[in-house]
Amino acid sequence: MNIPEQYQIKSLIHQNSYLVNGELKAWSGESSEVYSTISSTENYAPTLLGTIPTLGEKEALEAMDAAVNAYNKGQGLWPTMKVKDRIACMETFVAEMKTKRDEVVKLLMWEIGKTLPDSEKEFDRTVDYIYDTIEEYKQLDRDNAKFEENDGVYAHIRRGPLGVVLCLGPYNYPLNETFALLIPALIMGNTTIFKPAKLGVLLISPLLEAFQSSFPKGVVNIIYGRGRTVATPIMQSGKVDVLALIGNSKSANALQNEHPKSNRLRLVLGLEAKNPAIVLKDADLDLAIDECITGSTSFNGQRCTALKIVYVHEAIVDEFNKRFSERVDALKFGNPWEAEVKLTPLPEPDKPQYIQELIDDALAKGAKILNEKGGETTENYIFPAVLYPVNKEMRVFQEEQFGPVIPVLSFKDIDEPLDDMAESNYGQQVSLFGSDIKTLAPLIDTLVNLVCRVNLNSSCQRGPDVYPFTGRKDSAVATLSVHDALRSFSIRTFVASKNNDYNNAILKNLLDSKASNFVSTDYIL
Ligand code: G3H
Repeated sequence: MNIPEQYQIKSLIHQNSYLVNGELKAWSGESSEVYSTISSTENYAPTLLGTIPTLGEKEALEAMDAAVNAYNKGQGLWPTMKVKDRIACMETFVAEMKTKRDEVVKLLMWEIGKTLPDSEKEFDRTVDYIYDTIEEYKQLDRDNAKFEENDGVYAHIRRGPLGVVLCLGPYNYPLNETFALLIPALIMGNTTIFKPAKLGVLLISPLLEAFQSSFPKGVVNIIYGRGRTVATPIMQSGKVDVLALIGNSKSANALQNEHPKSNRLRLVLGLEAKNPAIVLKDADLDLAIDECITGSTSFNGQRCTALKIVYVHEAIVDEFNKRFSERVDALKFGNPWEAEVKLTPLPEPDKPQYIQELIDDALAKGAKILNEKGGETTENYIFPAVLYPVNKEMRVFQEEQFGPVIPVLSFKDIDEPLDDMAESNYGQQVSLFGSDIKTLAPLIDTLVNLVCRVNLNSSCQRGPDVYPFTGRKDSAVATLSVHDALRSFSIRTFVASKNNDYNNAILKNLLDSKASNFVSTDYIL
């Protein structure tokens, strides 16, 4: 196997501790092995990367108690800390994190099979996200550093933390998406319990000490194990104030139902999607094909924002299918560090089998595989199949495939894709390809009410992270963006007093003395 020296696995990572109450607690109980589906030898064999602790209910509740105690009924050091001091902790963390780039990028490639440029991008984008969050938090603080008066009542309104946040991220962006929850939750003064995703777990190990040394004890608690074993008792305790999860609605529903008082639980959820591409007959076909290739195949379609179904007007569908299929077949498959590689091993060992089932079901119901390489299978991959014509009876139409298979449908009347979207369980984004504004205008006006982002002649994507990321129906609860996430993880809370000499003198004293961290008109530039 020709693996460049710097990417070879030379030693295993035995993660034998977990972070609770500011301490990296040694774990000598059961552990599970972490394998990569990438082979290190000529004859295929998964590569052992290391081990992680299989924690149980006791350790999960210990982490929860640490987060509850750090919040300490709103009196904790972290939720009452001055804005500038919380920012200082975050800056310490990000500076330390940046020193771990190479280790994390290497693990991203091995654990989830993401290409080298995309793994680097995931790391850098996360670092930028932290800096942008700090800037946005300063802006929020500047905006709130004032009193207002209405109807004889003074008010000093800020956004305060919600309490304890349970953070669960997805395997396809184990760093970026998890941190896009964790970082805003932390900076707003919440305390957290974080369980890494099912894959992409070891890449958190290089960051554990940075978490431990940058934040006060109990503010960040990191646990390992099966979601059902560790997250369920945490939810059942009723002590979680926010469930922050990027994953699927089944697990989100199961977890939120464990909370004894659902009215107390705020949800911040990024869930499944089946974003369609709609290619109108006047679309620039070169551009539409380019964007549909990126949208449906980047990271093998394992993105919640991936294009998972493609509608093409019947007048151009033959031409589209021919050129699109050739482009899919031209994509290079290889290991993540290989130059020009676009398709990489699937990190879930059972994924090729699942995709094969979708293909078999579609073929049995009348679809054909249009591209020559479609469905070719190796130990850790199944080459993307372009399936046509797809219909509503097929599983590949109904299910979020989250992998390399591309269903294509033709349409005569635009109401066909619109009706499908209205009936669908999902409502995240759409890609619309066309140029005639008379057709586009009414379509855009409808589509914005079916999904939350209409990408004109562009593939769907989450970024740039300053834009709102959300969805309708089973696709999301709450909105994430650098700005919106700070709102999602906080609540408006304020001090009010009737405008009279007695109260005003007290307020003035409070401000002059700088004794309160909340009642303050100071701000950081
Ligand atoms: O898995 C869903 C991600 O939020 C997609 O993000 O569009 O930047 O790949 P992306």
